[in-house]
Amino acid sequence: MAALESYITDNESRFLEELKELIRIPSIGALPEHREDMVRCAEHLAAHMRAMGLPRADVMPTGGHPVVYGEWMGAPGKPTVLVYGHYDVQPVDPVELWSSPPFDPQVRGNELYARGAADDKGQLFLHLKAVEAHLRANGQLPLNMKFLFEGEEETGSAHLDGFLEAHRDLLKSDLVVVSDTAWFDRGVPSICYGLRGLTYLQVNLRVADTDLHSGSFGGSVANPIQVLSGIIAGLKDDRGRITVPGFYDRVRPISDEERRQFAALPFDEEKFRREIGAVALWGEEGYTTLERIWARPTLDINGIWGGFTGEGSKTVLPARASAKLSCRLVPEQDPQEIFDLVSARIRQLCPPTVELEIVPMHHGMWALTPLDHPAVQAAARAMERAFQKRPAFIRSGGSIPVVASFATILGAPTVLMGFALPDDHAHAPDERLDLGNFFGGIRAAAFLWEELGS
Ligand code: BES
Ligand code: MN
Ligand code: MN
Repeated sequence: MAALESYITDNESRFLEELKELIRIPSIGALPEHREDMVRCAEHLAAHMRAMGLPRADVMPTGGHPVVYGEWMGAPGKPTVLVYGHYDVQPVDPVELWSSPPFDPQVRGNELYARGAADDKGQLFLHLKAVEAHLRANGQLPLNMKFLFEGEEETGSAHLDGFLEAHRDLLKSDLVVVSDTAWFDRGVPSICYGLRGLTYLQVNLRVADTDLHSGSFGGSVANPIQVLSGIIAGLKDDRGRITVPGFYDRVRPISDEERRQFAALPFDEEKFRREIGAVALWGEEGYTTLERIWARPTLDINGIWGGFTGEGSKTVLPARASAKLSCRLVPEQDPQEIFDLVSARIRQLCPPTVELEIVPMHHGMWALTPLDHPAVQAAARAMERAFQKRPAFIRSGGSIPVVASFATILGAPTVLMGFALPDDHAHAPDERLDLGNFFGGIRAAAFLWEELGS
């Protein structure tokens, strides 16, 4: 055990250099021009895992970006844990707002700045280093381990459920551990027990074959941007309630106990407002900010476009208008059902003067981990040992759709033991990872395998 900890301490600077190598591969899953980088990143990971001493680490094809699968199964009779992470990263635009190039990782202060540093390469990689530490210090692992690293998380994991179904036996595990969530706050180690789901769709309106002169034609046909604005305005009231019939039918009310637990966390609404530079906080009436983010569903317009948006003016009656919108979902909402309900409401609000098209983009299921599961408690002890502080139990407003699939397809519960921070700028310019959390995360993971193996 002492050997394990000193191995980690002695090798911290090499671990950091190796993480930088992984980050330098620009594995932007959403952009077709990075397809080769995705393959290169998967191969880099697999090669690294083999070099570390895993007897098996393969790049496996899917219908999209490949999956990296690895395993160490040398502890017969011991439980098997599957570690999941994603090696795809978000696009970097607006790139001019980065303080240093997104794929040229740099340490400033005690943080590593780069795209993917926190979400999720740094968090994925800390697991590999925890395993390496066990193998080098003890010659073995205290339990059996499997690794599943995907390349399509940020784009909706289109091929992952199929992969789980096709490789049920290969992936069979007692428990899944995921490090892809953030702490409640800096210095507040956290274990996440709830994620929201997602339904994402695009709405396209068309009024004519081509843009029209607004003098010659204005007044004779509907304006699709105005119609779209009306539709959007009809989806939510001024008290923050979503006005889609049936939308809340399956929403599980927040229990009094959970409300008390949320309220007991050191959350300062004014500090939160200031940190994100918001003009004011706003949301569904009758709920606190934490409740709104963690345990209530949302409907957001992610983008809207149409007509002329350049400099100056152009007298045009646009032929088309579009919007992307998404709903974050909570237990027991069903993503497909919510898509159907929102689509029906949009059709109801849309006059026959425009042609309407609704395109489903992707769905993701919410997830809850039972807090009394022994693995959650083991993770809490491992966290406490690594960071000298009892972790907080929190939920999160984000989504990791595969977590629900681990339960339904593999029959395994998931522990969300993340190490990012709320101000890590995930998905934004200047993404970064706190190095204390990275090195502490390696220790927490290494301790967790000890806990679960004994
Ligand atoms: N790591 C995040 C999920 C997350 C975000 C967890 C915030 C906890 C707090 C993940 O990479 C992510 O961004 N997921 C997407 C999923 C979507 C594309 C299906 C999300 O939440 O938008
Ligand atoms: Mn992530
Ligand atoms: Mn993400």
